Amino acid sequence: MSTPPAPTQIAAALEKRIIGQQEAVREMSVALAKKLAGLNVGNILLIGSSGSGKTTLMGAVEELLAANPALASRSTVIRVHANVLGEEAELGHPGEKLLMRLLDRARQQLGADASVERLLEQATHGLVFVDEVDKIRSHVGGQPNISGIRAQEALLTLIENEAVPFTLPDWAGGATLNVDSSGLLFVCAGAFEGLYDAVYERVTYGKDQGALKPVTVVDETGRAHEELHFVLRDWLKHEDLFEYGVSPQFLSRFDAVVLLEALGEDQLLRILAEGTHSGLRQSQTYFASFGVKLEVTQEAARRIAREAARQPRLGARALKEVLRRVVSPLEYDPKAAADSNGVLRIDVERVEKVLTRDRKDGSSSTVAGWDQSFPTPSAGS
Ligand SMILES: Nc1ncnc2c1ncn2[C@@H]1O[C@H](COP(=O)(O)OP(=O)(O)OP(=O)(O)O)[C@@H](O)[C@H]1O
Ligand SMILES: [Mg+2]
Repeated sequence: MSTPPAPTQIAAALEKRIIGQQEAVREMSVALAKKLAGLNVGNILLIGSSGSGKTTLMGAVEELLAANPALASRSTVIRVHANVLGEEAELGHPGEKLLMRLLDRARQQLGADASVERLLEQATHGLVFVDEVDKIRSHVGGQPNISGIRAQEALLTLIENEAVPFTLPDWAGGATLNVDSSGLLFVCAGAFEGLYDAVYERVTYGKDQGALKPVTVVDETGRAHEELHFVLRDWLKHEDLFEYGVSPQFLSRFDAVVLLEALGEDQLLRILAEGTHSGLRQSQTYFASFGVKLEVTQEAARRIAREAARQPRLGARALKEVLRRVVSPLEYDPKAAADSNGVLRIDVERVEKVLTRDRKDGSSSTVAGWDQSFPTPSAGS
């Protein structure tokens, strides 16, 4: 078997799909390098707001392994949605279901001729991505979330456990045996919506009131004012996650908790321009199917990225949203929108026009209404 890749090589491959998020990419690359070298690796919890690239990162690892049979046969990878674990937990034996998925996947990779021992060996040393792990919080809005509690428990029975009872499927003989699942690597990811606000509240006017100190900022006019600069990474404590509904036992099974960064304008610009799965690529494909070449000028792309950066909670998804506003009026009749050479160029003026119009529309119910001096309702009217 060829030598396993170095973390730097893995990171270089992942960075073809994921922009920024250096810490998460590095952590993942080291974990994967160790995994592919047959070593045990501590589990990883990824926390990052919506659209910051968590699912993209998992997908990039899957693609990397799938594209290289020598790597794929070193490690079996599956991705599950935490909600599914919750549902399975309510029906009983969710851990077994997960092992079964790994075994099935290992069989696909190694072929039906591989011995059951070999398949079990492969399956129990696999990589398990649990996406949307925040959906299995133990309580929601003060109420216990039974499926979440059970799903966390189910994962606990698999993590670091050397004897998990497991009934083999019929094709493997159907016997019940104890399997060692301590070689599994779990990478769990979630947006943990509300966590940001909860921690912000704690350090401003909550339990740790005043912990976050305001800084003095001088604006363009020379006036000074105070601002609070809050970065979740600086303040997040284990207790915040317990309060969110991650049980202490569950959290203690993660060696690394990695926070993804909020994507800034420059990174959004790169995602727009280079992102292989970006909304721009999809639009270009659509227009190309009518023989129209959709182009976005540098300046226009930057304007779109800047607008998207105004909505940090949507992450890179905001790009799609802004792009849609610009492009959707042109989709009805692409040929008519293009010039005589079949090129449809989106320049910054077009973007600006759409954004200004939307801003006006957005405010029409209040400001414009008053400007137009609608008569104030009065008695008798
Ligand atoms: N860091 C990134 N690099 C490249 N593309 C990104 C990045 N972050 C997000 N995207 C793009 O934005 C879209 C949404 O990203 P993704 O699905 O990874 O978000 P997520 O963090 O899993 O969000 P959620 O918590 O809502 O599931 C994808 O289409 C992806 O192409
Ligand atoms: Mg996701």
